[in-house]
Amino acid sequence: MAGVQLNGIVKAYGAVQVVHGIDLEVNEQEFVVLVGPSGCGKSTTLRMIAGLEEISDGDLTIDGRRVNRVAPKDRDVAMVFQNYALYPHLNVAENIAFGLRIRKESKEVIASSVEEVGNILGLTPYLERRPADLSGGQRQRVAMGRAIVRRPKVFLFDEPLSNLDAKLRTQMRAEIKRLHKRLGVTSIYVTHDQVEAMTLADRIVVMNDGKIEQVGSPMELFLNPANTFVAGFLGSPPMNMVAARIASGGDAPVAEFGGQRLTLAPLPSLQNAVGKDVILGIRPEFVRIADDSAADIVRVEVDLTETLGSEALIHASLNGEPFVIRTETVGQMNVLDGISGFTIAPNLIRVFDAGTGEALPGQVVEK
Ligand SMILES: Nc1ncnc2c1ncn2[C@@H]1O[C@H](COP(=O)(O)OP(=O)(O)O)[C@@H](O)[C@H]1O
Ligand SMILES: [Mg+2]
Repeated sequence: MAGVQLNGIVKAYGAVQVVHGIDLEVNEQEFVVLVGPSGCGKSTTLRMIAGLEEISDGDLTIDGRRVNRVAPKDRDVAMVFQNYALYPHLNVAENIAFGLRIRKESKEVIASSVEEVGNILGLTPYLERRPADLSGGQRQRVAMGRAIVRRPKVFLFDEPLSNLDAKLRTQMRAEIKRLHKRLGVTSIYVTHDQVEAMTLADRIVVMNDGKIEQVGSPMELFLNPANTFVAGFLGSPPMNMVAARIASGGDAPVAEFGGQRLTLAPLPSLQNAVGKDVILGIRPEFVRIADDSAADIVRVEVDLTETLGSEALIHASLNGEPFVIRTETVGQMNVLDGISGFTIAPNLIRVFDAGTGEALPGQVVEK
């Protein structure tokens, strides 16, 4: 088992740079998820770690050894791909054993390894079958079996669940997490799906346009996004963004927008920002439905309400921009359609600089 360090890692294709100098330290046994929109450089970064792409600049260290120029098979990493990359003419047992055969392991070692991995992944009944005769989920398990059996120092996953239907994806996600708990192998997992990132990661790395936007635990990033990009990327539905200007309001600063106002937390960085244009980040889950009598109500115009069972999404508008409220249904079904507005605790409002998109300093929501 081993840590992985990226220091100033750059990837350029000819004159075009697509990864712009990434610094990241993945600790031993950690499960780190790289997440970001399509084309932001996740796969390229992972493939550089695997040795499938040349590193244009910077240093890559695995288990304390610089491996920039080390061949993929000598890096002791195992990669699981979206398309499984199984050998169609080999059966499940042979697919799992493939890497061990190449390494010229003994028959006994191969047999016991295949048996063990088959047990771990629930593949024992299918060992004689060919990939064509398996379901998508079973194929994905074989691909993981092939990686596990090699006992690598690091697992690398590139969107391994993207080809599965929603139900199976949820199930396999839990299996991958269980597997990581059991084996404790350092893992780097790439996905564009923020739910996968939130559920699987010890730490999430949010990438955008070849750069890292923020690194932290799922809850750190959810509660304290460093900028509007991370705020809008993590969370479903995403954080509401309201353009506002900070004004002084007595004990605490206030945010003004379209003739309405919200009291902000009495933090120095917000006190000192009077007159500044900001974006208020307001999570759909953090607001409380208010009735007309509430003194600090922010009024919205409701467009429609979607009832999802235990929860409802109220799609509204504020200042002409969409604004979503997520709320419980039980006990308040009769009021959901006709709400006038909401209230929110000042410390749950995230204030971003409208120019840079960066969160103003000093704001922390505790877990
Ligand atoms: N072989 C290549 N030649 C030129 N550009 C490439 C090549 N491979 C990837 N890219 C570009 O690098 C960027 C990052 O791609 P990729 O790492 O696959 O993104 P992601 O996995 O985050 O969707 C994209 O703009 C892509 O078009
Ligand atoms: Mg990719």
